[in-house]
Amino acid sequence: MTSFRLGIAGLGTVAQGVLDIVRENGSVIASRTGVELTIQRVASRTARPDVDLCGATFSTELRDLIDDPQVDVVLELIGGETVARQFIGDALAAGKPVVTANKAVIAAYGNELLTQFPGVGLRFEAAVAGAIPIIQAIRSGLVANRFEHVVGIINGTCNYILTAMQEQGAAFEDALARAQELGYAEADPTFDVDGIDAAHKLAILLGLAFDVPFNFDDIAIEGIRGVTPEDIQYAEELGYRIKHLGIARQTTAGLEARVHPTLVPVQQLIASVNGVLNAVLVKTDAAGDTLFSGPGAGGAATASAVLSDVLATAEAGETPTWRSGEAELKVLPVAETYSAHYLRIPALDEPGVFAQVANALSRYGISIEAAIQKGLQDHASTPPVVAIVILTQVTREADIAAAVAELEDLPQVAGEIARIRVESLA
Ligand SMILES: NC(=O)c1ccc[n+]([C@@H]2O[C@H](COP(=O)([O-])OP(=O)(O)OC[C@H]3O[C@@H](n4cnc5c(N)ncnc54)[C@H](OP(=O)(O)O)[C@@H]3O)[C@@H](O)[C@H]2O)c1
Repeated sequence: MTSFRLGIAGLGTVAQGVLDIVRENGSVIASRTGVELTIQRVASRTARPDVDLCGATFSTELRDLIDDPQVDVVLELIGGETVARQFIGDALAAGKPVVTANKAVIAAYGNELLTQFPGVGLRFEAAVAGAIPIIQAIRSGLVANRFEHVVGIINGTCNYILTAMQEQGAAFEDALARAQELGYAEADPTFDVDGIDAAHKLAILLGLAFDVPFNFDDIAIEGIRGVTPEDIQYAEELGYRIKHLGIARQTTAGLEARVHPTLVPVQQLIASVNGVLNAVLVKTDAAGDTLFSGPGAGGAATASAVLSDVLATAEAGETPTWRSGEAELKVLPVAETYSAHYLRIPALDEPGVFAQVANALSRYGISIEAAIQKGLQDHASTPPVVAIVILTQVTREADIAAAVAELEDLPQVAGEIARIRVESLA
């Protein structure tokens, strides 16, 4: 039996989850792995006398975790960017392996930390999709494969809101308020609903699957504020659900990396992943399609992933390298990416309008896959306004953006056009 001593930075949701699992499942972990986990130290800004620290020494000084020779691994569970990045760097510089759940730090500074301290050990399974062991799957279970795409519902808050809009016909604001009441969304929901959190996670998945550096700035980001109950209803009529997806894909031209609301065919399993659950669909050359689903957040679920990294550190020490050394792929500008699109066009109910819309699209080489006209959007105007709903075939982003701008200038188009990408995931 090997003893492995943890130093935990932070005493919030995830840290408490770690303490609970070590207390409750420590003996099972020891009998399975031969590693006996103990909590040597906890350091956090605020003492929490109500929390059982499993016999650990507490201090308010994060540095104590690094300086204590009895700490074998440091867990960074404070969140945020600046202090956390500094703390992780200091620990690695002192030769202490680090496990973190911090996607923001890894997406922005992961390369720097991994290359500066290559032999020490920096693991971050919990940073992407909570309990789902997706990093282990990419780096270990599927290591013999070339990746075609990694597509995921990787923000539980967005998925909860879109599911509530789907199931209850709720407006975005009402679904968000409910998510906040239930603790699924922060008081300031920007990071989640505007897609930033998902982009942090996608930057990590992209890097791991396609052997490129983590680069948050490579990700094209759209959130879910613009999705309406009508879009969800019309999508359903056309055989689709709207999900907020992170998409990392290799094409012949380069890599696509984007997070945005997406129409997904109802028959795709990922379309049925609802509520706060996360799911990641991986397509590779040898294994084909694999789908991973589970809780993307929560103290215990996230702590489960943290402890899997702790045990990997105890067993293997160094972080394995994953760069293949093959020619590095470039991430394409979003204008050069390809998707089908859903368009909801508010148009005057006059003869010939649909033909004008079709003509404008065809000038940009965009074909229509399906179209429906929906009832009155605005009863008051004369002539009345209807919604023309169109699914296009796969088209270049730059072309559809230009076509939509031209359509919005038509006198028969009575407002902004809603545009949502469609992915078959076939
Ligand atoms: N919660 C989840 O479900 C989840 C899921 C996946 C990943 N994560 C990631 O896990 C990390 C921790 O999340 P969490 O939900 O556990 O956060 P949390 O509940 O807010 O806990 C953070 C803890 O760190 C302490 N802390 C913050 N800044 C500090 C500093 N500068 N110095 C010392 N202590 C500091 C806080 O002290 P105070 O009590 O004084 O504020 C608190 O005890 C984050 O990176 C998060 O993104 C969380």
